[in-house]
Amino acid sequence: MSDNAGRAIKDRVRNYFEDTTRDYLKWYGTRRHHHMHYGFDRDLPPGGSPTSNMTRYLATLAGLFPADPSRPAPKVFDAGCGMGGSSILLARETGAQCFGANLVEMHARIAQAFAVRDAAKWGTPNESAPGAPAVPAGLRRVSARFLANDYTTPAFKPASFDVIWALESFCYAPDKEAWIHTMAPLLKPGGRLVLADGCSGRPPANRAEARAFELFLKGWAVPHFCSFDQIQKWARSAGLEVTHAEDITPDVLPHAWKIFRLGPIILPWRKMLHALGLVNEEKLLNAYAIYHQYPTLKRGLWRYGAFCFRKPG
Ligand SMILES: C[S@@+](CC[C@H](N)C(=O)[O-])C[C@H]1O[C@@H](n2cnc3c(N)ncnc32)[C@H](O)[C@@H]1O
Repeated sequence: MSDNAGRAIKDRVRNYFEDTTRDYLKWYGTRRHHHMHYGFDRDLPPGGSPTSNMTRYLATLAGLFPADPSRPAPKVFDAGCGMGGSSILLARETGAQCFGANLVEMHARIAQAFAVRDAAKWGTPNESAPGAPAVPAGLRRVSARFLANDYTTPAFKPASFDVIWALESFCYAPDKEAWIHTMAPLLKPGGRLVLADGCSGRPPANRAEARAFELFLKGWAVPHFCSFDQIQKWARSAGLEVTHAEDITPDVLPHAWKIFRLGPIILPWRKMLHALGLVNEEKLLNAYAIYHQYPTLKRGLWRYGAFCFRKPG
């Protein structure tokens, strides 16, 4: 991929997130839970948060759960950290030392503010959400820091991390093979790359399906998906072992449905406001994505994958 094409993708991603950050905070609950990704409903305790459940499931794959306070804090690179949901939870519940990097400076700043605000509440009665494990006393410390950094040119030395974490951020990489090859050297021997994201599914059967899938990707500024096989092939060629590759679509679908329910309300409303010049193109496209993501996932046009790759040693 040419440098210009890569830059154009990143500009689009930046514009999309700058224009929709308020929507995530207000409508998606990010102000409360700080996540910007799908939830995971498998073994979700009553009243539990599907998004935090996703983070805990992936943390188990990464070997961060169960936490061991007697060992040095694992170092985690949260690549495309959003507003800090994963890093803050991992720092708090596993004692990991997390470094979040984001293309969108505003996200990194908000994440840092959430980390500081939340840390002030740790140990108070309200902190124990359903599904959250008891936090060992030795782990109660703030260790989530965030910086503005393009994850395709990470500002870290080789062999810096025990875990590299990419939760719904990999899909934004302009060149996904190159990204995996950039990440692998940053892992320490024995380190794990955990990746959870949309992957390509079956080809569209007709023009309506093709249009729906196109609007879904465009609406969330995702340049393209790659397949389960490609991701694993690229991890192997980067010197990593595949320790986990799972299609978790059935666990994600219930949450995709909850997001979709807003679609029939938001889409006509946004169309009208857009026609009146009151909302911009990004917000209109976002409404299309909300509307099309669930049916396209349910019909197999894309799938949701969870992967863990390990660096030998
Ligand atoms: C859907 S959000 C997911 C955020 C977070 N991982 C979470 O699960 O809540 C995708 C994030 O990836 C970030 N991102 C996309 N491309 C990036 C890049 N080239 N470098 C760093 N961050 C990037 C976006 O700015 C956004 O915050």
